[in-house]
Amino acid sequence: IKHLRSAGDLDAATATLILDTAGEMAALAGREVKKLPTLRGRTVVNLFYEDSTRTRISFEAAAKRLSADVINFSAKGSSVSKGESLKDTALTLQAMGADAVVIRHSASGAPHRLSSWVDGSVINAGDGTHEHPTQALLDAYTMRSRLGRLAGLKVAIVGDVLHSRVARSNILLLTTLGAHVTLVGPPTLIPNDVAAALSPATKVSYDLDSVLPDMDVVMMLRVQTERMQDSYFPSAREYSRRYGLDLARMRRLPEHAIVMHPGPMNRGMEITPEVADSSRSTIVEQVANGVSARMAVLYLLLGGKA
Ligand code: CP
Repeated sequence: IKHLRSAGDLDAATATLILDTAGEMAALAGREVKKLPTLRGRTVVNLFYEDSTRTRISFEAAAKRLSADVINFSAKGSSVSKGESLKDTALTLQAMGADAVVIRHSASGAPHRLSSWVDGSVINAGDGTHEHPTQALLDAYTMRSRLGRLAGLKVAIVGDVLHSRVARSNILLLTTLGAHVTLVGPPTLIPNDVAAALSPATKVSYDLDSVLPDMDVVMMLRVQTERMQDSYFPSAREYSRRYGLDLARMRRLPEHAIVMHPGPMNRGMEITPEVADSSRSTIVEQVANGVSARMAVLYLLLGGKA
């Protein structure tokens, strides 16, 4: 594949190749020389129109570990503030010889538009409420590393599904790889059509307590208060009482089950600090795995091997 705009771009064989390659990249981290010469002379542009900590830094680290030249573009402080369009920005990057553009944008579909304007590969680093495919890859990698498989795993994705690009990409990728997804949250935050439209096999529940004892993985989503309207979200206290993961709820999970969160977290809202910092939490591991997963994506897309 040339671009990674959606987790739906990946069939099972390609997704598995990326996860296997991420494993090889992770092995590099333990070596004295952590860099590979693979992308020497290639240019990766990080084009970020929205804020990011994990995704932007890990794409930069990933590209540098593959010896690529990295240009970090942030909309703040650029000619975007003078009204320059995404297309004109893309053509400028094209003229500078970008081999890959990693884009985060508030508009769903921006990576698709971008890929019609540039010759290089386009990688979606999060577009609006639509998708975040490399987050899904690092999440799948983390599950496979901790639990040894993806096929047959039972995964609960909990909370603000309505606004979550992480949820959409995870549903697509996990079902492609044979996992069983259950969406859990208040009815106002689980749009009726999402589960069915993305995958007919995806289940929905409004009762977290009843779902937990059967799960291998519970993935808590950030409550996106900045996108929230009162009609969706009665009160933070009520939300935490019914859908927040605290120690008592975590104990309902099977012994082997893991707790995930893509970050950034609202500690005390969707997850308590005791759970986030517990030995079952893979939150820090997910960040480390993000570098390996993004190295694998850059390596395979720019090397033409995926
Ligand atoms: N998980 C995630 O996308 O985090 P950032 O917004 O910090 O990149």
